[in-house]
Amino acid sequence: MTNTTSNGLEGVVVAETAISEVDGERGYLVIAGSEVERLAERATFEEAVTEVLVAGGAQVGVPPLGAARAAAWELIPRLGDALALPEAMDALRTSLGHLRPTGDDLADALAAVGAAPVFVAAWSRTRAGLSPIAPDPTLAHAADYLRMTTGVMPTPAAARALDAYLVTVIDHGMSASTFTARVITSTGSDLISAIVGGVGALKGPLHGGAPGPVLDMLDAIGAPGNAETWILAELAAGRRIMGMGHRIYRVRDPRAAVLETAVRPLASRRLELARAVETAASKILRERKPDRPLAANVEFFTAVLLDAAGLPREQFAATFAVSRIAGWSAHVIEQRRTGRLIRPASRYVGTAPVSEARAGT
Ligand code: COA
Repeated sequence: MTNTTSNGLEGVVVAETAISEVDGERGYLVIAGSEVERLAERATFEEAVTEVLVAGGAQVGVPPLGAARAAAWELIPRLGDALALPEAMDALRTSLGHLRPTGDDLADALAAVGAAPVFVAAWSRTRAGLSPIAPDPTLAHAADYLRMTTGVMPTPAAARALDAYLVTVIDHGMSASTFTARVITSTGSDLISAIVGGVGALKGPLHGGAPGPVLDMLDAIGAPGNAETWILAELAAGRRIMGMGHRIYRVRDPRAAVLETAVRPLASRRLELARAVETAASKILRERKPDRPLAANVEFFTAVLLDAAGLPREQFAATFAVSRIAGWSAHVIEQRRTGRLIRPASRYVGTAPVSEARAGT
């Protein structure tokens, strides 16, 4: 499974952006001009949405996300089988595909950001055999997402923790899904298509699909004392440790610390275990791969936080999308302004055409 061949894109600059910057050597992330630590402390998700969209070149004040959630709710009866799909990311991708592009990127962006929590929560309830719950446009995005999922008003601490999560993961440089969204936009396609493509790229476990498996890992380990044995067995079986390692970061992902702080008020019983597993995994991976620093990434504490906030693990990757759709949208708007097709090249390593092979003999 391990692919050690470079795909030739590492470090290649494919766009200039004012939306976010990732410094993998120093473990430093700037989103729309703020360090992620400061942004998560001071901004609500709604404010962060405005900041990334403005950084991308949009003109927007307070984003009308409550109204966008209410509009998305009207679509629920017309989503076909989307909410019956077994995977949340498939349900989200299919549901978002029902949004009609208007030709106005900002309007489409707000529609998509507003729709995502409504669709994911409706999927979650449907899957549990429960009726979907209508959004309350007067609530904050994070609180309403939790309420639509669980059916009860979240505690302020849970809503605040989820809000901090949504702010923290709103954008992250030229991630695979962001690149996907920008490539789709660069062809002149619409924002909804770019967002649907982004969801497809985010779904994979090497990108956004890791936090559910991180929680499975914590459950399997059970107690701090079991961590080393479990990790060694996992590596011996040829599997990777979920939530560890990153393509860009050579130190601990700065978002891990932000989420670790944000989850503290929720007094999760898994926090202590997660810290112990991280310590054991870091030590073992350091011994195994002294030349390749492999530290905790954002997904490690995402799993602990989303679980403690009250979201089911099947919904974790889709919750990442609930936030990142805003970042993708900002990139779509920024990419649109360049008007330039992204068309990388490939190197042909296949067989030569028969006629030429003959000619050469
Ligand atoms: N556990 C064990 N070994 C790991 C590892 C992990 N989590 N992540 C990387 N490695 C090893 C690889 O097996 C490889 O070893 P090899 O050279 O002997 O084959 C080496 O470290 C380098 O890995 P590579 O695949 O080049 O790194 P990458 O930059 O392509 O991978 C990730 C980045 C995120 C895809 C990778 O670290 C990973 O799969 N992590 C687990 C999934 C995860 O947490 N995803 C969420 C990302 S935010």
